Amino acid sequence: MKIEFAEIHMPTAGALVVGVLEKRVLSPTAAEVDARADGGLSRALEAGRFSGKKGQTVSLASPPGLELSRVVLVGLGKAAELDAVRLQEVGGALVKELNGLGETRAAIACDALEESPLSSGEIAANLAAGARLRAYRFDKYRTKDLEDSKPTLTALELMSEAPDAAREAFEPLRRVTDGVIFARDLVSEPSNVKFPDALAERLTGLADLGVDVEVLNETKMRELGMGSLLSVGQGSERESRLVVMSWSGAPGGEQKPIAFVGKGVTFDTGGISLKPSAGMEDMKYDMAGAGAVAGLIKALAGRKARVNVVGIVGLVENMPSGGASRPGDVVTSMSGRTIEIINTDAEGRLVLADALWYTQGRFKPRFMIDLATLTGAIIVALGGYQAGLFSNDDALAERIATAGSAVGEPVWRMPLGEKYDKDIDSEIADVKNVGKAREAGSTAAAQFLQRFVNDVPWAHLDIAGMAWTKKEQPVNPVGATGFGVRLLDRLVADGYES
Ligand code: BES
Ligand code: MN
Ligand code: ZN
Repeated sequence: MKIEFAEIHMPTAGALVVGVLEKRVLSPTAAEVDARADGGLSRALEAGRFSGKKGQTVSLASPPGLELSRVVLVGLGKAAELDAVRLQEVGGALVKELNGLGETRAAIACDALEESPLSSGEIAANLAAGARLRAYRFDKYRTKDLEDSKPTLTALELMSEAPDAAREAFEPLRRVTDGVIFARDLVSEPSNVKFPDALAERLTGLADLGVDVEVLNETKMRELGMGSLLSVGQGSERESRLVVMSWSGAPGGEQKPIAFVGKGVTFDTGGISLKPSAGMEDMKYDMAGAGAVAGLIKALAGRKARVNVVGIVGLVENMPSGGASRPGDVVTSMSGRTIEIINTDAEGRLVLADALWYTQGRFKPRFMIDLATLTGAIIVALGGYQAGLFSNDDALAERIATAGSAVGEPVWRMPLGEKYDKDIDSEIADVKNVGKAREAGSTAAAQFLQRFVNDVPWAHLDIAGMAWTKKEQPVNPVGATGFGVRLLDRLVADGYES
């Protein structure tokens, strides 16, 4: 979909979208169109249920007095509440509506709204970003597309009083949506295509944006002593990889980096502790943490963020085979700590244990945040509405929660504590990879990770419920969401760029 910015004018073809505030208050362009159409808009509004609530739409085909295919009225709600997240949601709802109507091109009138916290340029930029996120489609494997489900909308024009300002405001947003789309593309890919080495290869493409990408193979990881991570991949025909993506955007270059670590299980069968067949196909998205880290690096490099960042992803495939690890096996992690593997399906934490240890030792980061589709238990606790947040640092946790609310990617803080930590003591090794059956499973996993974190401020985001959606949402079509990219981009932008 092509996105363009222009001055407000009356288009002579395609669909025109105009805004209506709560209680059916017409925006200036809506009022003008209404006058040209002899009050046709007002009459259409009065006839229906449309009240101007955010995201509601009403449309009029071939309005008299205008050369348009359609006028679409879109509800904006209360102007004072029209922030970036709501506007992106409106942009997403419009894409859905316009495609449903079969429109091929549309112009949106982004009038300045007195009470809105945003300028008309920012309004245009955020509508565009939301539209782009919702228009996403992973269709590379379709060889024939059903005529009635194929999206029709190919061009979107955002008309505002300040198209230059809109273009300028859109540029960083476009870069962030590029990152979200990259993450979604990686997560959507089937696991026969995105095995660890293939995924690592995809990530080396970030070099085009000035990212330094380093790929560690199994020999190198064995030398480093990553017995925990390697044990997860040992049942697979595919070799494991660890990828380090470094973006050095801070002026001067000396600044210590901040670090993001991602779980990249390219497929999780459960291993010898095999998962049930029903729904196992979902486990292709068990690398969504790694996908989000890669998408974040793409966003930061794309918008040339003035900060030093490293993204580290552990890429493994968890398969059952004669070479796979068994329940009861003991492995030695890079930290030297030994781990008893009680359940081979609790593999993400085994990957992250070595990835976190390596990250803090090599990079001495200012803080590190890991993202992982780590536990089914976090979905039981929070559903598909918020990610679980665990942290050893209240200030960092607070900043993450604030960034999440600002971009519409909410997180909920979950507890850590000594009693939970005791639950993962092993009889035979230093730690075991599961706690008590059916109790506080997400915290047990987080406690396990914390055993491999030293003094550095650290946070863990359990995104198992957020990485994929089975129901479409305002800015997410069904499928991979790219959750975490916007949140972490905002965290960096608001707190760590010089
Ligand atoms: N990848 C899964 C967690 C998951 C579940 C992600 C559903 C996305 C959707 C993880 O590796 C796993 O299998 N966790 C187990 C842990 C258990 C064996 C202690 C779980 O949640 O059941
Ligand atoms: Mn698992
Ligand atoms: Zn997993």
